[in-house]
Amino acid sequence: MASPITKIRWLVKNMKILIACEFSGIVREAFTKKGHNAYSCDLLDSEYYGQHLKGDVRDYLDMGWDLMIAHPPCTHLAVSGARWFKDKVKEQKEALEFVELLMAAPIEKIAIENPISIISSKIRKPDQIIQPWMFGHGETKATCLWLKNLPKLKPTKIVEGRIARVHKMPPGPDRWKERSRTYKGIAEAMAEQWG
Ligand SMILES: C[S@@+](CC[C@H](N)C(=O)[O-])C[C@H]1O[C@@H](n2cnc3c(N)ncnc32)[C@H](O)[C@@H]1O
Repeated sequence: MASPITKIRWLVKNMKILIACEFSGIVREAFTKKGHNAYSCDLLDSEYYGQHLKGDVRDYLDMGWDLMIAHPPCTHLAVSGARWFKDKVKEQKEALEFVELLMAAPIEKIAIENPISIISSKIRKPDQIIQPWMFGHGETKATCLWLKNLPKLKPTKIVEGRIARVHKMPPGPDRWKERSRTYKGIAEAMAEQWG
């Protein structure tokens, strides 16, 4: 049973948090473990049991959240797919509008996460670029953060490895899922520093 001091800390710190566009539950669970009232939201089911809103996140933005961390799809935005940009004008416009809508959500604190993408040139430059190797995973995957009322994320455990694991994954129907799951070390840093 939690001690009275733990209970008081829980009451003081408890925030209502939306993890937008998350099917893995990884960031949601990191905040839940810290005692926050965290929900993930995705068009897909959550692969990990917990508080999950299945549906279009645009229907859930106006629910009095204290913090939102959003992982919008990067399929039409990531510069790694630049050779197909000319065929994707409509999709890109819609993807950028979705990001702008998330950035403008009526929520006090917001972090938007995406790889190196045209968000930087079409909307604004990111506030920070982080790597998994700064948070205990010996891998590279440049990840941009656009922040509103949040401090930059401080590295928690810088490690030696620099494997480009996500670029080397074999093709398959679930490749995008394997590539897009948030690193646990980054999720824990978010919960520790932003919760
Ligand atoms: C790049 S993945 C992010 C995955 C995330 N990092 C995780 O660990 O689960 C983008 C996700 O956005 C979801 N998505 C796309 N449009 C959405 C919408 N309008 N509302 C909610 N989720 C959406 C997709 O289903 C996909 O799971």
